[in-house]
Amino acid sequence: MTERLVRRYLLLAVAALTLAAWTGVLMRLGMVYGFPAWAQNFGAMRHAHSHLMYFGWVTLALFALIWADLPRYTGRSLPRGVGVQMALTASMAFLSFPAFWANGYGLTTIGSARLPLGSMVATFNGLTWFYFIALYVRATRGLAVRPLAVQLWDWALALLLLASLGAAGLVSLVVTRAEQPFLQQLFLHQFLDLFAVGWFGLALLGVLWSHVGPPAHGWLPTFSLALLLTPTFLLGVSPTLLPGALFWVAALANAAAAFLLALHGVQLWRRRAALPALVWLAGAGLGVVLAVAALLLWPGVWHDYAGGQMRIFYLHVLLLMWVSTALLGLLETRWPVGRQSLRWMNLLWLAGVLVMIGALLGLGLAPQLGQPQLFWLLAAAWGSLGVAIGATWLGVVLLRAPATVSLQ
Ligand code: HEM
Repeated sequence: MTERLVRRYLLLAVAALTLAAWTGVLMRLGMVYGFPAWAQNFGAMRHAHSHLMYFGWVTLALFALIWADLPRYTGRSLPRGVGVQMALTASMAFLSFPAFWANGYGLTTIGSARLPLGSMVATFNGLTWFYFIALYVRATRGLAVRPLAVQLWDWALALLLLASLGAAGLVSLVVTRAEQPFLQQLFLHQFLDLFAVGWFGLALLGVLWSHVGPPAHGWLPTFSLALLLTPTFLLGVSPTLLPGALFWVAALANAAAAFLLALHGVQLWRRRAALPALVWLAGAGLGVVLAVAALLLWPGVWHDYAGGQMRIFYLHVLLLMWVSTALLGLLETRWPVGRQSLRWMNLLWLAGVLVMIGALLGLGLAPQLGQPQLFWLLAAAWGSLGVAIGATWLGVVLLRAPATVSLQ
């Protein structure tokens, strides 16, 4: 893949982040001031937002960053087909937006047919990920030594496969029109949550280690971390549906996985001089994720706080503050853009994320504290505006800068 192509895919990922972020702003402002006539289906809008973030922003950026670094570890050029795979992944990711906007995972009438557009496009996206995995296996087959970054990508892709089985389960429920609330929740969280903590979490650690170089000495977990992360998606299932024994399996695995993640965090922190500026904010996000894992062991906490606004708070700490901020920082280091031109954009992103996350926490706690939610809803809306403007600004800065990323 040429330098120009890598630049194109990283930019496309930022474009997806921008579009999905503005959709988030629309939802946040809509919650306070009401929704326009053309945006009345909130559930479908939420699916359009989350799937474009997952498929078009994080997954596309991770694929591009992995392809960018992989030849350094294999000593070979990338396999033929990478260009086609990336074009398909990007096209399907962007197609997911109108497909989910129409009706989410429900059926949409087109002529005389009623089609599950969201499920169909999710399946096509999944096929392009399998194509990536096949090419990755070919590119890394027979490596005498698998460096830390490659091991992390190996397990990240294994969990991506496992998460995709959840998507297949969801599609089968839609196709058979089965009314199975527990299975619906199980498959949904196997897909969305394992995708986030497994695929995003491990692949991101891989690109971070690839950026700073391997630790000088000492062992860092890869397989054990992947194994412990696997059952944690059960924590996303509603407390009214999940049996108590399964909760404890998931909560204990989650706490142990948090401990192993902290080992990575500490070692990365020691190399902070080589990490991008935004990593401070991302590190704070990871710290909150680890603290939540410990809190969930406290009796009753999960039961009382797992649903509703606290889940939205947790998801955005994980996906916006930790994963997206670290990715954004890594992207910035790959472009020859002066720190000065990014300074205001980064400050806006940082302020927006902190205000939005703080407001989501306030929203989650307000009912418990008997407080009105309007103030927090307003703060979340205006904070989200900072994030969306920051992402748009970054896209413009990168679009105008020459690319230096090179793939062999
Ligand atoms: C500007 C930044 C963002 C804004 C304004 C935003 C806004 C929102 C809103 C308003 C919701 C629905 C909340 C509710 O139902 O009460 C939501 C849900 C969600 N968002 Fe975001 N978000 C942002 C960033 C992200 C990022 C970066 C990701 C992932 C990489 C993400 C993934 C999700 C997910 C998975 C859900 C839940 C979807 C579901 O349950 O169906 N968001 N977001």
